[in-house]
Amino acid sequence: MKKITIAIDGHSSCGKSTMAKNLARELGYIYIDTGAMYRSVTLYAMQNGFIDAGHNIDTEGLKKAMADINISFRFNDTTGRPDTYLNGKCVENEIRTMEVSNNVSPIATLGFVREAMVSQQRLMGKEGGVILDGRDIGTVVFPDAELKIFVTASDEIRAQRRYDELTAKGENVDYEDILKNVRERDYIDSHREIAPLTQAADAIVLDNSNMTIPEQQEWLLKLTREVVSASE
Ligand code: DC
Repeated sequence: MKKITIAIDGHSSCGKSTMAKNLARELGYIYIDTGAMYRSVTLYAMQNGFIDAGHNIDTEGLKKAMADINISFRFNDTTGRPDTYLNGKCVENEIRTMEVSNNVSPIATLGFVREAMVSQQRLMGKEGGVILDGRDIGTVVFPDAELKIFVTASDEIRAQRRYDELTAKGENVDYEDILKNVRERDYIDSHREIAPLTQAADAIVLDNSNMTIPEQQEWLLKLTREVVSASE
């Protein structure tokens, strides 16, 4: 079976990573969570004094430090998905906190950050047989991807999903704060100058507001099989 490249883009917290992870397992593909990469740069910036409490970024300092940021993924057999490593340390939980979510979109607007991440993503995905999720995969990173999905869901449903995920991990979070964060990130991600979140002209839209995870998985697998056989 031919190994294709699959791009899953869309709004924050709409289940892209769950879809991508499950599909990767089903097909034996590599899953690359590109949001985790921007989150790792953000965590590094927070830990090394490049972001202050007022969310101001020392861009010159961070730019110089980019060469010291090494991001990699290692598959975790227990969770069935890759864990993110920052300079050799597993940061999978740390990068999902509200503090990181509140700082990540401004970091992801920086041209030098995007350049570094995009070139790593192209390298990781160059052999095909990959599923990447993010905001600019089908438009910038792999514009020739054989299958492009653009996922969305209502703001409230996305905030509720993120709330459930964080409370299940024991984080003490407020639903209204999360809703605000979801809307702010969508706004920044869609209005930034470089590689804004937009639907690729040839992407297939999935609004999963009223779909269960198994329903969306079945839809995606069927579609993928059709695209793979058409491209053989
Ligand atoms: O998918 P996520 O919520 O983990 O992504 C975190 C942030 O990273 C999101 O607010 C936008 C940014 N991002 C991006 O700009 N480009 C990508 N390819 C992936 C994520």
